[in-house]
Amino acid sequence: MSRTVGLPAMRQLTDSLSERGEARPATSARRADDTRWRAFRDALGQFATGVTVLTTRTAAGTPIGVTISSFNTVSLDPPLILWSLSLTSPKLDLFRHADHYAVNVLTMNQSAVADWFASSDDDRFAGFRIHDGLGGIPLLEECAAWFECTPEAMHPGGDHLIFVGRVARFSLGNGRQPLIFHAGRYRQLA
Ligand SMILES: Cc1cc2nc3c(=O)[nH]c(=O)nc-3n(C[C@H](O)[C@H](O)[C@H](O)COP(=O)(O)O)c2cc1C
Repeated sequence: MSRTVGLPAMRQLTDSLSERGEARPATSARRADDTRWRAFRDALGQFATGVTVLTTRTAAGTPIGVTISSFNTVSLDPPLILWSLSLTSPKLDLFRHADHYAVNVLTMNQSAVADWFASSDDDRFAGFRIHDGLGGIPLLEECAAWFECTPEAMHPGGDHLIFVGRVARFSLGNGRQPLIFHAGRYRQLA
């Protein structure tokens, strides 16, 4: 069965949320809003993506990483990529001020890595073997590909911040198949 959710309804919802400065409605309209949020998220989930971990270091040198599926290509010449991070992420300011960051593209064997870097654990790198990339950025091992970037631009994107990165160096991994994320689940290529 297909479900249709009108764009005006979505826009109304978004407007009413931002007017109230709320991430989620807290009134009796919440159930209807929740249904629309769910439908919107379900529809977005039909777009299958890969899974990456974005890594950088704090000014004090502590490695940080976060699981990101919003990675995509932007431009070949110059070589640009993009990804977006929630405004509520405690890592937001660290990435905003980073001189370098890396996109680590996960393989089908790394769904536990994806879960790990999506957790709220502070010491996410404990037990991980890493090597240093440009500017000392931590690169995870056994990935499908790595893109080491310098910040090119940042753009507001609603409740996310969109990062555009210039690829300074890239490498291909071990030829293993990539991890796929679709409809809220990890999958593998057939
Ligand atoms: C498969 C997957 C993809 C994700 N993609 C994104 C994303 O593109 N942008 C984002 O802000 N959060 C994304 N998240 C959520 C973050 O990984 C998660 O909220 C974050 O790691 C929580 O830690 P933090 O509070 O330190 O940010 C994703 C999570 C998973 C499991």
